[in-house]
Amino acid sequence: MSTWVSIDGVVAPGAEARISVFDRGFLYGDSVYEVLRTVERRPLFWADHVARLWTSAALLEFHLDFGPDDLLAEVRATLARVAEGESSIRVVVTRGTGPLSPDPALAGTPTRVVIVQPLKLPGAELVGSGCTLVTFAIGGRGEGGVDPRVKSGSNVQAVLAAARAHAAGAYEALRVDVHGRVFEGASSTFFLVCDGALLTPPLGAGILEGITRRKVLRLAAEALLPTREAEVHLADFAHAQEAFITSSTRGIVPVRRVDDHVFGPPGPVTQRLLAGYADLIRTSVV
Ligand code: PDD
Repeated sequence: MSTWVSIDGVVAPGAEARISVFDRGFLYGDSVYEVLRTVERRPLFWADHVARLWTSAALLEFHLDFGPDDLLAEVRATLARVAEGESSIRVVVTRGTGPLSPDPALAGTPTRVVIVQPLKLPGAELVGSGCTLVTFAIGGRGEGGVDPRVKSGSNVQAVLAAARAHAAGAYEALRVDVHGRVFEGASSTFFLVCDGALLTPPLGAGILEGITRRKVLRLAAEALLPTREAEVHLADFAHAQEAFITSSTRGIVPVRRVDDHVFGPPGPVTQRLLAGYADLIRTSVV
């Protein structure tokens, strides 16, 4: 058995896990979620993920009837079923079940789901050569929709972006807008390295505050690498030497190419951050 699921504290094999069709997560994408990984079989950066989950829930005005420690106990109980190896963990909280009406006042109590699966890290070959991205002109998140700080289950744009990446044979889609502004990957943060300095779009651009982003910016600052959170434009690629993306389950993945622009194999700054991040996660599990 490789997938285990906890629903409101009851752990079952993944194939047996079921939720109601009246759950608002299913009906309206009325849910928030986090994705994290284990290191030494323990959740990595749990405090950061739990804080972001609570922020997402607050911004959507969910009334949570449980606390972070209750959730952690359920994550641990689910992980305890795993025989060996590292896991990826998806924690989903929906507003609960209710009648067929979007009115949140009619919802019951939140549904808690924890899905634990074997962690699939990017292969050494991909990290060694760098991945390919394809741009997807859909703009930043949150424009007239859900606040981009919310990690919401209402995320069909990421599905379209993933379809675009798949069709192009790319690893990930990169959200840009019609003006050539660059935002983030479908499920990752985007970084450029320009003359030894890190450049990444600011939170105000309408991106998720990535937890790996935060860790990488801190690592760079500790290594005395200049960092800049500023608008990124496709035209900036011309004077960038390196690019990479980050996410909780993938860590840092070097980018070899975006559309027709070739950055080449991972450069020295990316290599240094890869090593620093590997050290950080080894020492962060308590
Ligand atoms: N995605 N931007 C978006 C839109 C994301 O969905 C994610 C994470 C990130 C990276 O954030 P973090 O470093 O906190 O994982 C950026 C997760 C992994 C997912 O949906 O699978």
